[in-house]
Amino acid sequence: EKGGYDHFMLKEIYEQPSAILDTFRGRLLSNEAVIKLAGVEDNMKKFLAADRIIVVACGTSWHAGLVAEYIFEDLARIPVEVEYASEFRYRNPVITEKDIVIAISQSGETADTLAAIKLAKSKGAFVFGVCNVVGSSIARESDAGAYTHAGPEIGVASTKAFTTQITVLTLMALRLARAKGTMSSSEFRHHLIELETIPGKVEEALQSDAYVKTVADIYKDSKNCLYLGRGFNFPVALEGALKLKEISYIHAEGYPAAEMKHGPIALIDEQMPIIVIATKKGHYEKVVSNIQEIKSRKGRIIGIVTKGDVSVKELADHVIEVPETIECLTPLLTTIPLQLLSYHIAVMLNKNVDQPRNLAKSVTVE
Ligand code: M6R
Repeated sequence: EKGGYDHFMLKEIYEQPSAILDTFRGRLLSNEAVIKLAGVEDNMKKFLAADRIIVVACGTSWHAGLVAEYIFEDLARIPVEVEYASEFRYRNPVITEKDIVIAISQSGETADTLAAIKLAKSKGAFVFGVCNVVGSSIARESDAGAYTHAGPEIGVASTKAFTTQITVLTLMALRLARAKGTMSSSEFRHHLIELETIPGKVEEALQSDAYVKTVADIYKDSKNCLYLGRGFNFPVALEGALKLKEISYIHAEGYPAAEMKHGPIALIDEQMPIIVIATKKGHYEKVVSNIQEIKSRKGRIIGIVTKGDVSVKELADHVIEVPETIECLTPLLTTIPLQLLSYHIAVMLNKNVDQPRNLAKSVTVE
């Protein structure tokens, strides 16, 4: 059942190219320059009239929501707020009929997310579910939705659910951008063509596995770890840190790279590994100067870089390459080595990778 892999998590990491393809199926028609998402199409009027989108989710799904915030705002120019479902539901939030709430959940059973959408519905908001499990409670409770089609995810640490959530949300943002006219038809076409290359590029990113394993071996005994990213890759830094925490029990934090100097920089010493997402697109020069700041405090730098990178290579202790793509799609690639790094460290530390202590696959209690 693990298909020859030692753990479900590794199997699921490797399934990502095909899982993303499954998410595209019937929806991404690049020859015709069309995106088809029935749940969006049938409710286009509501989407176009919406004042804002509120995303509610927990854990990794919340990170996918943060990536979506950057993508929706950039491409479709719709304001987005991303909320922890557990906070939203108890905050007496301001919600109106002109709000669209997107609930993101792999399992579709997360108690806080389910309660958040019930609250939103009671205030008249339109609820759109992005779930993986077909027929799950959140899927049923939503007014409309789009499944991720990642296939069953068994490992408690979410991997392919995350990348397929980002894929669905990107398709949605592109479809809405086209409908709103915030994107030209040639830009739209260009995005579709790039999106179509992602499964192959994820496959290529997976080829860093052996090298990532050697990096894991060097840092597996660390007590702390810092993950930094900017823009579209800031949420990827949060997700990388969560992945490491939950399966290896090493303390890790994700930060927007520029926030480092407002506190976490005090943690940096010769022992401290700092994983920096520094792809060519998106504030590259600024991230390089953040790396210089770390270097001058003798931190150990692991850079996630675009293939062929030169500047970060000169400064970092290690660099892990991912293929080049357009900026808004980089999270789908930069996530891959971070998943592999956590996986290898956890295995080397003899941890229960698929069923980490104290955690359940779906959190059906608040
Ligand atoms: O099933 P959901 O997507 O609603 O689950 C939300 C979180 O419980 C989940 O993402 C959790 O953070 C994972 N263990 C992360 O790997």
